[in-house]
Amino acid sequence: MKFYIATDHAGFVLKSYVIDLLQDRGHEVVDLGPQNDSRVDYPDFANKCSHAVLEDQGSFGILICGTGIGISIAANKNRGIRAALCHDAYTASMCRAHNDANILCFGERVVGKGVIESMIDAFCNTSFEGGRHSERVAKIECCSIGKID
Ligand code: RB5
Repeated sequence: MKFYIATDHAGFVLKSYVIDLLQDRGHEVVDLGPQNDSRVDYPDFANKCSHAVLEDQGSFGILICGTGIGISIAANKNRGIRAALCHDAYTASMCRAHNDANILCFGERVVGKGVIESMIDAFCNTSFEGGRHSERVAKIECCSIGKID
């Protein structure tokens, strides 16, 4: 799988851990920054990663901020992005199986390395189930243009 990864300053420390973990498992990883822990705004990096994922069909993203909340909210403003804020292997697996999530988000101040490893494995090893979930995922795009009847 190909991943684009970005963080803000509050997610910066874990970025290299996640990159190593993905590369050890044979995944391709593109680091979209930041390159140091100076203060930055999470929407800028959420958008950078979202645009890369949208332009590279079949790719995925990982976004990390302090809580994972701000960066996931910002990413989800991009139509076609389904950024899932996850806290454990179950949510990381279900966001692929039912929501066809294309970006995994989490908070560096919330989860530790062991949980992150289990979330990444769950995300990578779970496929979208399609079927009734495809119709629901399609309706997400309708929500963003106000057509939900
Ligand atoms: C930065 O202090 C923090 O607000 C940010 O990383 C994130 O947690 C916002 O949702």
